[in-house]
Amino acid sequence: MNVIVVPDYEQMSLHAAETVAAEIRARTRTVLGLPTGNTPKGMYRELVRMHQAGELDFSGVVTFNIDEYWGLSPEHPMSFAYYMRTHLVERVNIPAGQANWPVASGDQAAACRDYEERITAAGGLDLVVLGIGGNGHIGFNEPGTSFDTRTHVVRLAEETRLANCRGYGFRDLDDVPEFAISMGIATIMGARKVLLLASGREKAAAVAGAVQGPVTEELPASILQRHPDVTLIVDEQAAFALSPREA
Ligand code: F6R
Repeated sequence: MNVIVVPDYEQMSLHAAETVAAEIRARTRTVLGLPTGNTPKGMYRELVRMHQAGELDFSGVVTFNIDEYWGLSPEHPMSFAYYMRTHLVERVNIPAGQANWPVASGDQAAACRDYEERITAAGGLDLVVLGIGGNGHIGFNEPGTSFDTRTHVVRLAEETRLANCRGYGFRDLDDVPEFAISMGIATIMGARKVLLLASGREKAAAVAGAVQGPVTEELPASILQRHPDVTLIVDEQAAFALSPREA
């Protein structure tokens, strides 16, 4: 694992955007797996700035959101589809039809199959960008999820619903969906390259576990130790619990 520790959130965001931009510039067509949440907002801001400055062309970019709350329509303002459109897709030149998010209603098995098929049809993921939960989740693969899972419907951990309620502006906990559809661990591990971002002291224990702990389904991000091309960009707060060798 390549662990890059930067001073703060701003530096993490700039570095992450540079990494994504380098992937986009490296080929004519790039398939990205993309996270939502608070961590990547600065990265998206910088990618949009690069595009507006004429430095980055998204016409060959295909995106796949990593996850979605089950039951929220893509028009719902708290949906991850809405997030991705407003933070990135509608601000750059990704052609209509090249931005993907999972179907999050109806037949669950069919929705999961459909998402895997779309990813495969796109040629697989060149780069997946991840945030990390305080409990070590990646995507919405909560502790205890089998490493073999592909896209699946998950019950969100209580701590995740609480964190999302506080962090994402839900009115109260009852408004936070109980289920989500998420790329599985095996889907994420199938990406050619992985970039994980973390900022803040509340991520420190999960980051240390992911990098230096045992590979265990109890800390889903620890599986990344087995991926051949993983970079973590973490700020000093999130690197707090790493041993000096990594930090
Ligand atoms: C969101 C996702 C989640 C988040 C994680 C961290 O699409 O897949 O795994 O990356 O919950 O969320 P933030 O960045 O809000 O702390």
